[in-house]
Amino acid sequence: MNNTVVIGSQWGDEGKAKITDLLASKADLVIRYQGGCNAGHTVVVDGVTYKFHMIPSGILYRNTVCFIGAGTVIHPESFENEVNEFKALGVDFKNLKISPLATITMPYHIEIDGANEQCSGKNKIGTTKKGIGPTYTDKMARISLKIQDLYSYEALEQKLDRILFVKNKELEKVYGVDVYTKDCLMSLCERYAELFKPYVCFDWQELLNNYKNKTILFEGAQGVMLDVDYGTYPYVTSSNPIGGGASVGSGYGPTMIDKVIGVAKAYVTRVGDGPFVTELTDDVGDKIRNIGREFGVTTGRPRRCGWFDAVTMKYAVLVGGITSVALTKIDVLDEFEEVKICVAYKDCRNDNVYKSYPTDVFIHKYLEPIYETHQGWKTSLSGIKNYNDLPVNAKKYIKRLEKLIQAPVEIISVGPDREQTIFVK
Ligand code: GDP
Ligand code: IMO
Ligand code: MG
Repeated sequence: MNNTVVIGSQWGDEGKAKITDLLASKADLVIRYQGGCNAGHTVVVDGVTYKFHMIPSGILYRNTVCFIGAGTVIHPESFENEVNEFKALGVDFKNLKISPLATITMPYHIEIDGANEQCSGKNKIGTTKKGIGPTYTDKMARISLKIQDLYSYEALEQKLDRILFVKNKELEKVYGVDVYTKDCLMSLCERYAELFKPYVCFDWQELLNNYKNKTILFEGAQGVMLDVDYGTYPYVTSSNPIGGGASVGSGYGPTMIDKVIGVAKAYVTRVGDGPFVTELTDDVGDKIRNIGREFGVTTGRPRRCGWFDAVTMKYAVLVGGITSVALTKIDVLDEFEEVKICVAYKDCRNDNVYKSYPTDVFIHKYLEPIYETHQGWKTSLSGIKNYNDLPVNAKKYIKRLEKLIQAPVEIISVGPDREQTIFVK
């Protein structure tokens, strides 16, 4: 078995899709296991840019089967747009399969997400407004629709009554917006049933059994620090991007996982609100944003940028189950005289030093990063193909990161293209 989970180890947008795409060339089955169209995954092949939200990036390989697992939430209209955009680029969807157990994001989930953000003022989460939180909330409250329900009159008859009872009360009383009728939801579901029909994999158990002895790649979305249990709660998403999420959300248990690659940028970015101890709000942060083109794929928002945070990364290695690291975007630091790594936090109220990640995020506003400063390499890395050809200072930087985070760097990415990758032997 050589089954690999690719996860984000920071706050998302680490370059997971580039790494998944690379590894997908050797995979028989690629599974997306959590999240929804809040994700924005970019793959660049021969200068053509593909932007994925819901569809596993393995779809670019004609013979690789791609499965959207039970742990995901799917917004039908966004899915339809994504499929149409990719079809226009010549991508073939014959190998796309969707779990009948995946949860549907309904229009009211998007309305509620938007309203919650608007009402929260300065306490907002800064969500992507794709309805993710409200969809997972309803899943846990056992009032959501699964893909399989679209094909069962009995399920819809029974579930819609309960959904209408709960959601209409909420929509009317809490948000003061229009309620839904059963006819309206029924006709939406009919439309969704048609839309998903070519992809729903009712024999998913057989599919998973057939691939048990082949090579499986699990494609994570978001990142460990956005995990609903282990991230900077409440400034998180509503699913489990950690490695463990792959076994819950795919249908394969933990015994099917051999390794977890944690993707991390050579610095840190975050979109949305919430603590970010190494955030740079000065010219250095702007420089990283401009060179790294740090603007969100899903919402276009500028990403907050900062130096590499070895405190959160060491934590991510632990809770994410990370066995090795893919270090991306190191080329973005090419022009810097010096690069910094945060090795600990200092509480400016009492000078307490934290070497481990403090999970109470409400004290993070009092924390200052303690940095180690390293000399930059001042050379372009983007054409380098072998580890030995890296400048000494870049190697030193990588070696130091490995030591601090207690995990080996297995892949180094020096540009967005598939070719711009170094495999560390
Ligand atoms: P994901 O959500 O983790 O898949 O990452 P995103 O696609 O949201 O953001 C990563 C961005 O960085 C994309 O625009 C990628 O094309 C780009 N990218 C990935 N790896 C590298 C790299 O090593 N260097 C540079 N300069 N860009 C990269
Ligand atoms: P990929 O897979 C970066 C962030 C949002 C917000 C928080 C909650 O491309 O790495 P949500 O809409 O999920 O309820 O928003 O999570 N967020 C992401 N940030 N990359 C992502 O996905 C993200 N998906 C959600 O900005 O802070
Ligand atoms: Mg992204």
